[in-house]
Amino acid sequence: MADTVEFYDRMLSLGLARVSEAAALASARMIGRGDEKAADQAAVNAMREQLNLLDINGVVVIGEGERDEAPMLFIGEKVGTGKGPAVDIALDPLEGTTLTAKDMPNALTVIAMAPRGTLLHAPDVYMEKLAIGPGYAVDTVTLSMSPSERVAALAKAKGCAASDITVCILERPRHEALIAEVRATGAAIRLITDGDVAGVIHCAEAAITGIDMYMGSGGAPEGVLAAAALKCMGGQMYGKLLFRNDDERSRAVRAGIKDFDRIYTRDELVTADVIFAATGVTDGSIVRGIKREVGFLTTETMLMRSKTGSVRRMIYRTPVK
Ligand code: FBP
Repeated sequence: MADTVEFYDRMLSLGLARVSEAAALASARMIGRGDEKAADQAAVNAMREQLNLLDINGVVVIGEGERDEAPMLFIGEKVGTGKGPAVDIALDPLEGTTLTAKDMPNALTVIAMAPRGTLLHAPDVYMEKLAIGPGYAVDTVTLSMSPSERVAALAKAKGCAASDITVCILERPRHEALIAEVRATGAAIRLITDGDVAGVIHCAEAAITGIDMYMGSGGAPEGVLAAAALKCMGGQMYGKLLFRNDDERSRAVRAGIKDFDRIYTRDELVTADVIFAATGVTDGSIVRGIKREVGFLTTETMLMRSKTGSVRRMIYRTPVK
């Protein structure tokens, strides 16, 4: 049974925002420098340092990788002072390393926290994802529908034509057939080169971002982070783990996955109340990227709690050290 006792989400949320801000500030110097690894490393170091200042008994369940491949913020690493509530942490210190290195839109630092045992321990494999924003009946679209059926169902529910729907999809060769099928419906496609956490979050603010639905496969860890965000903002999401080989199946077994064919809903990816923070690294439609002035850096952070459905956008200006 998941431990869903109070985890002081209200009190901890500001601390979580600081963790996310710190990672973004650390990566600021690496924006547009063409060095993905250095950008990621700077964010990882800063995120870990700030996380360890929080009074939590935290365990990283979605992190930088398995212990043997990631020296810091690896899956299973204990974080925090150990004095507070037992919590699961899902994080991506730099979601969009390539976006950062190339100074392209929508790179974020992302972190979510929930009571221990309530975030899916998603292995580092792909996940088939489908997401829509709030205000639609449950199962308006599902993974068992074809892409064109999803567009038709969403258009009907929204009261518009298929051509008024915009779908966000990662631009990858593996999505060629998906893209062709969606285009054939008349719907528009916002192709993104990276960053599907932002891609999914866009659905929750369709009026601002212009994106109604997210479809396609991307990282499973990013899927859990996106589900945490949608749980705070409203919206539906489905995810199915995809396995390409036995190594990936063993990763899933090590992560405790028993049913390889299961389709997870948003609330099965994140089974209790969660807090979520994301800070913009490069400019995007959800939060602005880091602004650099002589002597100062400014960040924008989105801080959300599922218990209250509250969404804060916080501007933080700090002298450059
Ligand atoms: P990184 O920041 O780790 O590079 O991930 C970026 C990302 O675009 C994710 O948002 C997405 O889930 C995943 O990579 C897609 O993987 P792939 O590039 O293999 O299609």
